[in-house]
This record gives sequence, structure tokens and C-alpha cells, in this order.
Amino acid sequence: TTVEWEAASYDMGGHDTYMHKEIHEQADAVDRVLRGRIDDRFSTVHLGGLNLDAREARQIRRVKILGCGTSYHAGLIGAQMIEELARIPADAEPASEFRYRNAVVDPDTLYIAVSQSGETYDVLAAVQELKRKGARVLGVVNVVGSAIAREADGGIYVHAGPEVCVVSTKCFTNTTVAFALLALHLGRTRDLSVRDGKRIIEGLRKLPGQIASVMEQEAEIEKLAQQYAEARSMLFIGRVRGYPVAREASLKLKEVSYIHAEAYPASELKHGPLALIEPALPTVAIVPDDDLLEKNRAAMEEIKARSGKILAVAHQHEEKADQTIVVPKNEDELDPILMGIPLQLLAYHTALALGRDIDKPRNLAKSVTVE
Ligand code: G6P
Repeated sequence: TTVEWEAASYDMGGHDTYMHKEIHEQADAVDRVLRGRIDDRFSTVHLGGLNLDAREARQIRRVKILGCGTSYHAGLIGAQMIEELARIPADAEPASEFRYRNAVVDPDTLYIAVSQSGETYDVLAAVQELKRKGARVLGVVNVVGSAIAREADGGIYVHAGPEVCVVSTKCFTNTTVAFALLALHLGRTRDLSVRDGKRIIEGLRKLPGQIASVMEQEAEIEKLAQQYAEARSMLFIGRVRGYPVAREASLKLKEVSYIHAEAYPASELKHGPLALIEPALPTVAIVPDDDLLEKNRAAMEEIKARSGKILAVAHQHEEKADQTIVVPKNEDELDPILMGIPLQLLAYHTALALGRDIDKPRNLAKSVTVE
């Protein structure tokens, strides 16, 4: 069973769907997750509810992030940020898998449970199992006072505000920003330089304005969506920072439009997916302007050579792609936060063109509170 859908209790504010409203709330939502947390004097951030002192933060040997669905994907991005900025080995795993594989629970690992609702049963059960074994567990949660928030030893509220659409958008974005804050905090407690701390803080401050500029491209994205609505299947590719973005974009499209979509690391194309490429299978390529740009361009070339159609999400017009959605450049480590946002709009407009039940896709629930 599932939690009752409470849409009636929230105002749509002139939007036709909650999904559209929540996509458009993201600049304000990101502003909220940042508010009061930046400490310019030490180029770090304050996270009041963490319950983790500097000595403890320095003793962490590994980070394991657990979540389900979109929250798991936000965790994949978070793990990369923690590795990059704090240089702590980190990975994310679906909570539902973790709790059934008798994982080794290690006292020097920091466990982080991610959940919009704070009520997802598999995540809560994983937290309880970890606590029973003496592990330290933090929560990255949206709903204040929820079960996971209460069960955790500490954590970060993502302050996205109420999210009604079953398909998560603003909460995903805010969760990735919360992870950037945590990564910066852990980094500055350990070996991240003041200079890099400043650089990340400047990048974070740019996010709300950059999100607003992505929203200005909605009319063009809507046109693209009308073309993609005819696809039976779509491939999403990216590498390293772009790969979790591809995974979340693929999930978003399939949840809301019911078009089959699959995400693959661009580096793995030749190990299978290239066999699928033909004009009827469009590819969405995540192409950040970072040290993997040329590798991503080579992947697009491979697809073009097999007559595949490509939509790139990139920081400049990409010649190898048939179409490009250009997003503003931020610091390399923060690029994943912005790159998925136009693809939320793409999923939304594709679903709209197909007449789908956008806020409440068939067979899905906002919060899965039983096994
Ligand atoms: C359900 C929802 C997803 C969500 C997942 C995790 O499957 O349909 O949108 O990502 O649960 O929910 P949580 O509240 O734990 O983030």
C-alpha cells in the first residue's frame, strides 16, 4: 500500500500540474537550501544538524549513500561530489538492495540515507539495521520530522518545500545541492583548500540564477519534446559526472511519459548499446565542458556514424549533435546539478504531448511505505 495522495491540500499557483509548478520552483528552492549555511570567513558551510564534530569528520574512511528511485540517483551524484571535494571513497546503492545482501557494516564508514518523504520503507529498514549494528547514519531528507529524519543520528534537511507530483524534480535538485554542501563541509574539514572552498561557494551562489535561465528555454524544449514523443525508446548517455544525470533523466522520462528509456555510461557504448543504434532510437547525450569533453564528442561521433539521432545537453553548441540544449557552465564538480534540469522539462512536455497523467503516473506512488 501507499501513502494517500494529498494534492488537494496544496495550491497549484496557476500551473496546470504540480510537476510543472515544482520544476519552476527550483531556483527558489535552491536558494532555500543554501540560506544561512555559507560561511565566507572560512570558505565552508555550517550544517547545524549534522551532529558530527571535526574530529569525527576526519576519521571517516568511507561514505555509503542509500536511497531509492530518484533519491538514489541524487546519492550517486552526492557520492561523486564527496570523493572529488573531500577525497573520501564514496558510493551509492539502492537501499532495497543493501538491506538484503548482509553488507559488511564498518565503524569507520559514514552511512547516509536519502529520502524526500523520509518514510520509504526500504530506506527506513536499512537505517534501522545499520543503527542496530552500531553504525553512524545521517539523513538527507526533505520532510521535517519524518521517520528517517527521526531515526538518523543527524543530517541535512533539503528544504525543497512540499513536493506533490509523484515524479520528483525540485527535491532531486535540492538533494544534490545538499550533497554539495556536505562535500564542501567534509572537504574543508579535511584537505580542501580555502581557494577551492571559495570556488565552490561562488558556484553554489550562481545556481539559482542559472536555473532561472534554463527555464527561459522552455518553449524550445517543448518543441523538441513534440518530436521525441514519437520515439518508442530512448538512450541516455554520459560519463563520470554526466552518467548519474543520464540515469535520472532516463528515469524521469520513463516514469512520466511511459517511453522506454535506458541510461548507459558513454564509455560502455561499444560493449553493447551500439548494436541498438538506428534512426528510430534517439540518444540524449550529457556533454559537460570538462576534461571528458573530447571523449563525449567521440561517443557522439560513433552514434552519428550509425545514423543515430542525438540531442546533446552541453555548455556550448555541439556540432556532432542534431540538437543541443545549452546550459550555463558552473564549476566542474557542480555541473551535474544543472544539467538534468532541462531534461525534467523534456520529460514533462513529452508526457504532456502524449496526454499522460503527469502528477500521478500509472502504477507509481509518491511514497512507498511498505515492502
Ligand atoms: C517512489 C517515488 C519516487 C521516489 C522514491 C523514493 O518510488 O515514486 O519518485 O524517488 O519513491 O522516495 P523518497 O521519498 O524516499 O525519496
